[in-house]
Amino acid sequence: MSDILIRPEAPDDDPAISSLVSNAFGPGAYARAAFRVREQAPHDPDLSFIIDLDGELAASVRLTPIVIGSHEGRLLGPLVVDPPLKSRGYGKALVRHALAEARALGIRYVLLVGDPPYYGPLGFSPLPQGRVKMPGPCDPRRLLVAELEEGVAASLEGMVVGRP
Ligand SMILES: CC(C)(COP(=O)(O)OP(=O)(O)OC[C@H]1O[C@@H](n2cnc3c(N)ncnc32)[C@H](O)[C@@H]1OP(=O)(O)O)[C@@H](O)C(=O)NCCC(=O)NCCS
Repeated sequence: MSDILIRPEAPDDDPAISSLVSNAFGPGAYARAAFRVREQAPHDPDLSFIIDLDGELAASVRLTPIVIGSHEGRLLGPLVVDPPLKSRGYGKALVRHALAEARALGIRYVLLVGDPPYYGPLGFSPLPQGRVKMPGPCDPRRLLVAELEEGVAASLEGMVVGRP
């Protein structure tokens, strides 16, 4: 894969990101548990990134501040790639970049709801079932966490709440 330009999301990127997200997730998007968390708090501009290809939005990832009990972390999502540009490594590159930046900022964990076969190789593992709850329907097998501080997952228990 050739070098790709990942840069922080800017306010001007918002319309293109919103359109990519609604096309990817469709009208059911807002029923998803992760979207409910994101309604509670805005995404973190320091930890939201895009891939810009010659001035056009190719892919986007957003991280939103959350708390579980007293433990602050980030929720990753949506991760979305422009359909004609899938399978070029953009999705994984954005996740790896976001995790590295989160670690550099001292974030202790990143949570997401997603497919284990995709996110497992990127450092995400399932949480012990039943201990962490999302504010909406969510298959517990898809609730995954990347520990940026070793052992932090074992202390996570309770409802995921967006932290404005
Ligand atoms: C999922 C998504 C972000 C992947 O982005 P991408 O840039 O195409 O992914 P990458 O190029 O980094 O990785 C591609 C590889 O991941 C695999 N992959 C893609 N989605 C997958 C999934 N849901 N489960 C397992 N593997 C998956 C592809 O088959 C491909 O495998 P290959 O490299 O062996 O061919 C993109 O398909 C997308 O925008 N989907 C719609 C929105 C969405 O579902 N977002 C994720 C929410 S959890």
